[in-house]
Amino acid sequence: MAGPTDLTGENILKPVKVGICGLGTVGGGTFNVLTKNAKEIARRAGREIIIEQVTLRRPNPAVDTTGVKTTADVFEVVNNPDIDIIVELIGGYTIAKDVVMSAIENGKHVVTANKALIAVYGEEIFAAAEAKGVSVTYEAAVAGGIPIIKAIREGLAANRINWLAGIINGTGNFILTEMRDKGRDFADVLAEAQALGYAEADPTFDVEGIDAAHKLTILSSIAYGIPLQFQHCYTEGISKVAPEDVEYAEELGYRIKHLGISRRTDRGIDLRVHPTMIPEHRPIAKVDGVLNAVTVNGDAVGDTLYVGAGAGAGPTASAVVADIIDLARTMDAPASASVNHLAFDTIDDVRVLPIEQVETAYYLRIQVQDRTGVLASIATILSQREINIEALIQKEGPEDDALAQIIILTHRVEEQKMDEAIAAIETLDSTHGKVTRIRVEHLD
Ligand code: HSE
Repeated sequence: MAGPTDLTGENILKPVKVGICGLGTVGGGTFNVLTKNAKEIARRAGREIIIEQVTLRRPNPAVDTTGVKTTADVFEVVNNPDIDIIVELIGGYTIAKDVVMSAIENGKHVVTANKALIAVYGEEIFAAAEAKGVSVTYEAAVAGGIPIIKAIREGLAANRINWLAGIINGTGNFILTEMRDKGRDFADVLAEAQALGYAEADPTFDVEGIDAAHKLTILSSIAYGIPLQFQHCYTEGISKVAPEDVEYAEELGYRIKHLGISRRTDRGIDLRVHPTMIPEHRPIAKVDGVLNAVTVNGDAVGDTLYVGAGAGAGPTASAVVADIIDLARTMDAPASASVNHLAFDTIDDVRVLPIEQVETAYYLRIQVQDRTGVLASIATILSQREINIEALIQKEGPEDDALAQIIILTHRVEEQKMDEAIAAIETLDSTHGKVTRIRVEHLD
């Protein structure tokens, strides 16, 4: 085995003992990867990694825990003096936070896949870890099996990051893909994602964009060196994406993806999650199913794209175990040998732009009475606000011959101006119902 040896050639590094808290989809996957690849992992870590104890509330049929201590009490694991690394795979903010804080207090390193916990309480957790001289690693928190934290934090460390955009919720991407390709029902696809173990315990986190906002918050902090600001992330889900918008987007040469987008601008950082129309020829537009993808633009490197499975037992375990291996390598070194929790030594308190100040292009679908002058009045409202039209098509109304649908693509404009224009269009006598708006990004 690799690693320091004594005069007889014996490895002198003690095995690392881990305690796994939570043996659900990800915990089970982690247990199985650590067991199945134990030899290969030890060769990489330079020492053996032993699962000392696991917590489980109910048996996981995918895992054989024979020979490993199990308990229903997470704090038995957290307080186990033999354990070096606590692997928190419980999820949520309550018990998970207590587990992480107690583990740190006990001088243990922590590996977590908990994006909600890091996005909301990361600052407090990292401060406690730094005070105690331990590390908290969280590669699995964003984009499952894609090593995107490492890529941004270490691989792209030479760059000033300009922007990043990602499909960072597998469940949402799976739903949009199945709706588009097979015309499947939203609820039906969501139920399948839950059965496959992709969805969050509360699936509204997936479909309403909260999960993606947690992940985008984390990525943005390590990309720009800003505080974690989940509370300022604009969040809009996919539950209102209508099948006709999916169809019209395709007709216009676009795809609708649920994107997390953040951009450095002169006025602040853009931080938003919403359904987004992107040109179909962009590589990220072709990333379908449960796959995730993140594109990052750095000033030296240009555009980079990272694609892979964003959820599920194996892919998430791949990231959790990579963190365990990293810790096994660095835990005996001084803290300065490890990369900072949020990548930067000093944090810039740059403000996050409110959504009204964000600039983007738009797709609008307006249901109108099919009569002379309607189009002209809409065009007037837009031109009064200097909103430039890029493309326009008219479709028959869905059920009624007297109605038509006007589809407009605009150039970039500040959201506030578009809000005003939409409000004015909705007050026209000829407009039926609400205007549908989808933000458009060209990612160039
Ligand atoms: N519910 C998440 C998803 C799991 O669907 O992407 C991985 O974070």
